[in-house]
Amino acid sequence: MSRCPPVSVAPMMDVTDAHTRWLYRRISRRVLLYTEMVTAQALDKGDAPRLLAYDPVEHPIALQLGGDDPTLLAQGARMGADVGYDEINLNVGCPSPRVQKGSFGACLMLSPEVVAEGVAAMKAAVDVPVTVKCRIGVDDHDRYEDLRRFADAVVAAGADRLTVHARKAWLQGLSPKQNRNVPPLRYEEVHRLARELPDVPIEINGGFVDLDAVADQLEHVDAVMIGRGVWHDPWLLADVDRRFFGETGPAPTREDVLEDWIPFVERRVAEGHKIQHVVRHAGPIYAGQPGAKAFKRALARAHKEGSKAILEGIEAVRLARAAWSERKAG
Ligand SMILES: Cc1cc2nc3c(=O)[nH]c(=O)nc-3n(C[C@H](O)[C@H](O)[C@H](O)COP(=O)(O)O)c2cc1C
Repeated sequence: MSRCPPVSVAPMMDVTDAHTRWLYRRISRRVLLYTEMVTAQALDKGDAPRLLAYDPVEHPIALQLGGDDPTLLAQGARMGADVGYDEINLNVGCPSPRVQKGSFGACLMLSPEVVAEGVAAMKAAVDVPVTVKCRIGVDDHDRYEDLRRFADAVVAAGADRLTVHARKAWLQGLSPKQNRNVPPLRYEEVHRLARELPDVPIEINGGFVDLDAVADQLEHVDAVMIGRGVWHDPWLLADVDRRFFGETGPAPTREDVLEDWIPFVERRVAEGHKIQHVVRHAGPIYAGQPGAKAFKRALARAHKEGSKAILEGIEAVRLARAAWSERKAG
């Protein structure tokens, strides 16, 4: 068995919140989930219990921190470990101007010694694994040797795994969204890192949207992180446990998952959350299936109709599926 979870769902701001993670976890019991990035500063100054909230069913779950101050990072890591996170991850890959202004995220790749200090402080503060998520490079510092120097520094500081988004980031001139699409993917450099650093698990990230591609990557690296592939098609996770974690039970059906999800949605609403927030990333669960659009339309009515809209969505899918089968037969 692998030295680390072979598949994870990427940290995504405004996507992998506690509501959406619950749904992903119901589809795959084993995939490693990440929170959205939480800054160490926000944990220090803000509403830490709210920022750190998760449901125990979400394990295994990693808390992703942003920051560059070793003291605050150690404190944030300790707060995360104290409430039971299975791993603390440091974000060294985000190129957003807001994050750069706080001088952390991807620009930290230019200062491996600062990242190493942060990692060492986090390691000293917690017993759970401390991991780092980075890019293959930034701006013109994108030769393999730059990545290798960065990796050596964080591994020497004790990082337990390195996740590499296999494209560089341009710190000026590209929006965060463009930085996830425009610079080309360079998987070979991550494979080389995995070959040259056999003692530390290396996870690859960027552009994976099907499980065959994940299987291919696992020939070269220890793990694969999927972001938008899951966001746009969460059902991708349904086969992950059997294919990559050695599970043998039957795959769930979408209807099984949604049946459990409705009481969850109602519970969250009773706790004071807005239903449109709770359901906002469930729409694509039927991506590519007959009735996918009807399901999304039904969910969009949830803010007016409550969980009744979800039941109507499921019924709309059933009707669309029956019509599709009839057409196919005739
Ligand atoms: C909406 C969105 C929000 C993101 N937020 C974060 C974040 O908080 N922390 C982080 O390290 N990466 C973040 N990312 C980057 C992803 O974790 C991932 O590295 C990137 O999307 C490439 O993987 P993919 O091609 O599988 O999506 C975000 C990506 C998206 C699409």
